[in-house]
Amino acid sequence: MPQKPTVLVTRRLPDAVEERLRRDYDAQLNAEDRVIAAAELIQRSAAADALLVSPTDRIDGALIEALAPRVRCIATYSVGFDHVDVAAARRRGIVVTNTPDVLTEATADIAILCLLGAARRAHEAQTVLRAGAWKRWTPTEFRGVDLAGKRLGIVGMGKIGKAVARRASGFGLQILYHDLVRVPADHPVPMTYVAELDRLIEQSDFLSLHAPGTAENTHLLNAARIARLPKGAVVVNTARGNLVEDAALIAALESGHLAGAGLDVFAGEPNFDRRYLTAPNCFLLPHIGSATFGTRDAMGFRALDNLDAFFAGRNPPDNVSGKS
Ligand code: DGY
Repeated sequence: MPQKPTVLVTRRLPDAVEERLRRDYDAQLNAEDRVIAAAELIQRSAAADALLVSPTDRIDGALIEALAPRVRCIATYSVGFDHVDVAAARRRGIVVTNTPDVLTEATADIAILCLLGAARRAHEAQTVLRAGAWKRWTPTEFRGVDLAGKRLGIVGMGKIGKAVARRASGFGLQILYHDLVRVPADHPVPMTYVAELDRLIEQSDFLSLHAPGTAENTHLLNAARIARLPKGAVVVNTARGNLVEDAALIAALESGHLAGAGLDVFAGEPNFDRRYLTAPNCFLLPHIGSATFGTRDAMGFRALDNLDAFFAGRNPPDNVSGKS
């Protein structure tokens, strides 16, 4: 019987995923879900054919250079792969794969939760209720902003952007979007393309970010662009924290220029900018966009489908490094 490939898994994964890992691979699991530092990853790579990593691992160029030559594939348990230096991997002939599609719906749900949470001041209302400070129903307290008839600007009309658009149009929001590629005119959700990001921002009562967290996109929503948002706009980010200039967003919430923000992702997470905790009307979640039982299993299975294809000598379906 041929030896099973060895896969070094950096995080504890859902049971069904680990079961399949144990069945098909010599799986080096992380039962305690402890932090594996770069030095340990490098040292243990000598005994690994592949790494199964997550967005909490920083797989940068230096780490990739230092990996043992035995490592030939890095599968990330995520759709985003900004934490992996794909160019460095390509130079070393290492294939990198991600997990698209399977988390689209769950992440779009969380984007809508963030949008509604911020629009309807959910955090503030819950805080009052949980503190036992809710006195009575009042006509004037906890008033938020209506969705129906407003404009939602979507930055990045990929799969998640489209899933958000579909949901949002059900709330009566008018969809505008900006992307490098236009959606075909016969797309079932009516939406208007805005070629310039600044023009989209100027028209967005709600703005939802769905762009990758690349270096070029860092602070895509900066102070100048936040100033262009209509007064009373709401910002939603379920993509990557680096897209937003935190200081500028916090200042705009504090000045009252923005009515709220719904954020599931943060620069430097989990060490996010603590000023969000006290800034007015922030609906905050700890990066749970894909956190459903079904989706987290599906992400693991998708990562394993990629590893299976790689070790069977095929090009993995989600090869993002253009090398097989
Ligand atoms: C991803 O997959 O990139 C998410 O951020 C984690 O689910």
